[in-house]
Amino acid sequence: MDVRVDSGAATALKADALIVGLFFGQTELSGALADLDKALDGAISELLANKEFKGARYEAEMVLTMGKLAARRVVLAGLGKEDQYSSYYMRTCAAAAARSARKKGATTLAIHFPTAPDTHAQEMAQALTEGVVMGLVDPDIYKSDNEDKVTVTALTILSGAGDSAAASEGVRRGNIMAEASNLTRSLAEEPANVMNPVRLAAEARKVAEQYGLEIEVLGRAEMEERGMGSILGVALGSVTEPQLIALKYMKGGAGAETVALVGKGITFDTGGTSIKPAENMHYMKYDMCGAAAVLGAIKAIAEFGPAANVIGVMCCVENMPGGAAQRPGDVVRASNGKTIEVLNTDAEGRLVLADGIVWAQKLGAKHVVDICTLTGAAVITLGHAATCLLGSPQVWVDQVKRASDESGERVWQLPIFPEYREQLKSNIADLANIGGRPAGTITAAVFIQQFVEDGNSWAHLDIAATAYSERDLPYLPQGSSGAGVRTMTNLILDLANGK
Ligand code: BES
Ligand code: ZN
Ligand code: ZN
Repeated sequence: MDVRVDSGAATALKADALIVGLFFGQTELSGALADLDKALDGAISELLANKEFKGARYEAEMVLTMGKLAARRVVLAGLGKEDQYSSYYMRTCAAAAARSARKKGATTLAIHFPTAPDTHAQEMAQALTEGVVMGLVDPDIYKSDNEDKVTVTALTILSGAGDSAAASEGVRRGNIMAEASNLTRSLAEEPANVMNPVRLAAEARKVAEQYGLEIEVLGRAEMEERGMGSILGVALGSVTEPQLIALKYMKGGAGAETVALVGKGITFDTGGTSIKPAENMHYMKYDMCGAAAVLGAIKAIAEFGPAANVIGVMCCVENMPGGAAQRPGDVVRASNGKTIEVLNTDAEGRLVLADGIVWAQKLGAKHVVDICTLTGAAVITLGHAATCLLGSPQVWVDQVKRASDESGERVWQLPIFPEYREQLKSNIADLANIGGRPAGTITAAVFIQQFVEDGNSWAHLDIAATAYSERDLPYLPQGSSGAGVRTMTNLILDLANGK
């Protein structure tokens, strides 16, 4: 999509649809809104006065301009209550309005939203770009009959005079973030018969080639040589080779400490021998969203080009049942020497991440962020509104939290009290891979923490509730969301900027 900035008059803007944001209950029109209303002979104020348009969040109302404006339609976009408005809702409301405008056939869009208290011209243009560029991607990639599909080709963002340089920078950044997130989403959307571990490795090689990054891919034999019994156990049931992938972005020089982004890449999670119920099992094609987010983040980081050392690790395995598959009660030894009693083969994400995180540290990482669709309990804990964040030390968790705040990707921290470790005790091995029902998201994190070396920092993003949606949202269609891409990218940009 061609995204540009215009600081001219709203009435002179050419577009199929000019989207303007209005707050819930707003009756006063000023600035560009007043100019538009005047040119439309009061059509907007009449809709407001009659309460035909109330400004509820994600509400949309079309007004045909009949030649009174350069734009063919005005789309009134509801922003919700003014005191709740932020860059978060700026992004989601822009996406919802763009989706509404496209439904009417609009292929060229322009957008004018009010500023939010937390937002200046650059962040605003970035949020609007991200909202529209991400909001307009649908998961219908395998539909043969797509004739009615409308493609939006251009977006113009209205900025105040004097703000256009900052807004253009926001557009540049927003485009990078949105395109990288859309890469993650498109990988996640592919069904598991297409997107298996070998194909994910091929996708990683494409990114490596495009940006001149070093890439290392371990298959079954290389994992055996390195004693990676934990990830190998999960791979036993699958005919597809597991792939442990490391992408290396090393532009930080010798002084900068290396950060590893480690993603769970279960390309399909049947549960293995501890098989899942049939209902909703198809969603488990999304169990590689963590690894896909790592690849998206590496792409965005390579586009931004910060002075940083980053290793993206993708732990890609298919978790299948079968005659060769791992059994409950099996004991495996991870590459740091720790033994694990696999009491439930469906708790496989932590098993693949264990060896992935050990490897990342062997490759030199001192700081780790892992990202994974790890626990159904994450949905119970926070619902779909936020990603669960855990980790230690707290300064590193805070650093990740700040990056998430900048991204508009909500996270909420859960505690790690020493007592949780008790739940992972095994009678036969160093630890068990499940900790019972209480605090399932936390005990999963505590399991992973056992593979972080003393003195290194670690943060854990459980995106089980946020990586994909089972239904259409106003601002995103059903399917994968790209959760974590922008947070991880901002984390690296912040660190490179000494923030
Ligand atoms: N991939 C699932 C977690 C999941 C569930 C992601 C729902 C997205 C939506 C994970 O591998 C899993 O099966 N976890 C088990 C762990 C349990 C056996 C301790 C779970 O959450 O039930
Ligand atoms: Zn599982
Ligand atoms: Zn899983």
